[in-house]
Amino acid sequence: MYWGRGWRRPRWWACLLAGLALLLCLHASLRCCSGGRRGRGVSSVCGCRTCVAQPGTDSWFDERFNSSVEPLLSTKNSWIHPDALHWWMRLQSGRTTVVKVTEWLLKAGATTNPYQGPPQPSRCRSCSVVGNSGNLRGSEYGKLIDSHDFVLRMNRAAIAGFEPDVGTRTTHHFMYPESARDLQPHVYLVLVPFKLLDLMWLSSALSSGHINVTYTRVKRYIKADRDKVLVIHPEFFKYVHENWTERHGRYPSTGLLTLVFALHLCDQVSVFGYGADIRGNWHHYWEKNRYAGAFRATGVHHAGFERQVITQLAIGGKIRLYPGQ
Ligand SMILES: *[C@@H]1O[C@H](CO)[C@@H](O)[C@H](O)[C@H]1NC(C)=O
Ligand SMILES: *[C@@H]1O[C@H](CO)[C@@H](O)[C@H](O)[C@H]1NC(C)=O
Ligand SMILES: *[C@@H]1O[C@H](CO)[C@@H](O)[C@H](O)[C@H]1NC(C)=O
Repeated sequence: MYWGRGWRRPRWWACLLAGLALLLCLHASLRCCSGGRRGRGVSSVCGCRTCVAQPGTDSWFDERFNSSVEPLLSTKNSWIHPDALHWWMRLQSGRTTVVKVTEWLLKAGATTNPYQGPPQPSRCRSCSVVGNSGNLRGSEYGKLIDSHDFVLRMNRAAIAGFEPDVGTRTTHHFMYPESARDLQPHVYLVLVPFKLLDLMWLSSALSSGHINVTYTRVKRYIKADRDKVLVIHPEFFKYVHENWTERHGRYPSTGLLTLVFALHLCDQVSVFGYGADIRGNWHHYWEKNRYAGAFRATGVHHAGFERQVITQLAIGGKIRLYPGQ
């Protein structure tokens, strides 16, 4: 083959350059995918290094996670499927009617859900879900907890006096009437409605205060931003019961609901303050008595099974579980 004199040199350089480019490509692709983690490639559903909703990384998760189930009631979805409505109505002891329940759900759904829609390739939303376990005492997780975009807390969670261990920020606070507390301005109040009366209580507690008792005494008034009230969708409740706790217990705990809520809303989820402390005691981090055992002593949830679900999420790399002290 004849190589013209004028061509030889440029061709040689071109080959060298092409070779270098190939090496660089190989290097980059190896780096991006080492350890099974995804890079910011086009196939990623969100903008983080790993995304909760990314299918194909954990089949156990994929069998359970259904991104079409919306966690919150809103104007667009407050018509409830009859199956979910009847399941939810059976949770309550008092008598009620479908018409009445529907009317209240429509009323509760008359808010906008600011978090509708799937993950975006340009978004990397990190969340810390903070349970109330005594394992937070002395953990010094405060700064780490606060470093997430969203900080989700629940029930009677206190901050004052525990900042180094539990952090200072809250963006969402999950509660029901019997576990309610006043909130700081700008915090979303997320109602977990176990019964119709809970919806009625929320409305009352933000206005007239005419409800002061459910099955026990409850707060008549609650301090919270009225335009930052969200309500968990009964269909989401049923989905967590069927697909996540697999019908163990009568219904899932607030802790598990909050965690699955985070899986639906966030791209990365860190979990703090769940389970027992290192001595095996179940108590809240604000309780002096380590032997209070308060939160295992609920007959309606299946703490053991919920624990397995949480462990499995951590094994599959869908959450990062911080064990505490
Ligand atoms: C996911 O949820 C939607 C909405 O509730 C439902 O129509 C669909 O059947 C569910 N998908 C699976 C695989 O169960
Ligand atoms: C609740 O309110 C009713 C009146 O609406 C009142 O009679 C009752 O004493 C109150 N109960 C408690 C426990 O505060
Ligand atoms: C969830 O549970 C329902 C009812 O048991 C089932 O039909 C469905 O296939 C499960 N999986 C998903 C992903 O929704």
